[in-house]
Amino acid sequence: MVAIGAIASAIGIALALWINWFPADAAKQGKPIDTLYDVLMIVSIPIFVLVMTVILYSAWAFRMRPGQENEDGPPIHGNTRLEVFWTAIPAIILVSLCSYAYAVLNDIEKVRADELVVKVHAIQFAWTFEYPQADGRPVVSNQLYLPKDKPVRFDIDSQDVLHDFWVPAFRVKIDAVPGITTRLRVTPTRVGIFPVVCAELCGLGHSVMRSTAHVLSPAAFDRWLASEKAPAVNAGGGGGRQLSQDQLVALGRTTFVGDGGCGACHTLADAGSTGSTGPDLDRVLRGQSEDDIRTDIVDPNARIAPGYQANIMPPNFEQTLSAQQLDGLVAYLATVSK
Ligand code: CUA
Repeated sequence: MVAIGAIASAIGIALALWINWFPADAAKQGKPIDTLYDVLMIVSIPIFVLVMTVILYSAWAFRMRPGQENEDGPPIHGNTRLEVFWTAIPAIILVSLCSYAYAVLNDIEKVRADELVVKVHAIQFAWTFEYPQADGRPVVSNQLYLPKDKPVRFDIDSQDVLHDFWVPAFRVKIDAVPGITTRLRVTPTRVGIFPVVCAELCGLGHSVMRSTAHVLSPAAFDRWLASEKAPAVNAGGGGGRQLSQDQLVALGRTTFVGDGGCGACHTLADAGSTGSTGPDLDRVLRGQSEDDIRTDIVDPNARIAPGYQANIMPPNFEQTLSAQQLDGLVAYLATVSK
């Protein structure tokens, strides 16, 4: 049994360490969590193997043989020495692992100086990211933008039910709970694009409650923030700088495939998108007025295409897209639907 257990444990541990359980980590918090995960695997696999080996061996070695149907086993009154061992050893293992996990948790949740605060609002079924600004007018986006190597504090809340904010590449995740604000700390370490997912079953659109985290160089992040602020600054003056119809349509197409993320759910030949979560826009847009298209974007439950469910399309595009992007989308969709 010892030989079988040792070989099975070695194979199990090798397999567990060889499998890539998570995507490549993209935050400072990733390494300590991955190491903790590996240690837990290394410790638990021999225990699993030990328990399974004893159970399987006992079931085979002490099975009932013909003629033993009415026999009873010998009475057992316990074995103090054995019980001390099997209580003490698991206790030592558990206390050690808990202490180690606590140290890791303390380390990854450490408050860092000069944190960037990003508010995360969850709603069935969309994420809204809000960047508070000194002038009191926050930048709002439905995609997450972060500067590399900058400590970030997420303040997370929910406007309806339980959700869970998770960027697998950052490892850490936390529930979005109605009525309270939960916190998460992350320092992105790699420039790139990483999925943001909801990790709490929250309703029919749970699987499409996704967004994208863009980790940019600090300079590129500042440029993004400045470009997001620009339309808001001009908004008081009647929609900012006037765009020609062609420019508006071009902005709409960019928004469709980019910031809006519309192509992820909708098929539209002109934009080269093939999403199938929402209605095929090449078909349903035909003959729609600009007003109808605008209503469908900002108030998606107002009318639902036959065969589709309410509450699947994010209801927050009016907040996350600039007025100009929205105008652009409407102009673009009205143009391609003709
Ligand atoms: Cu929100 Cu699942």
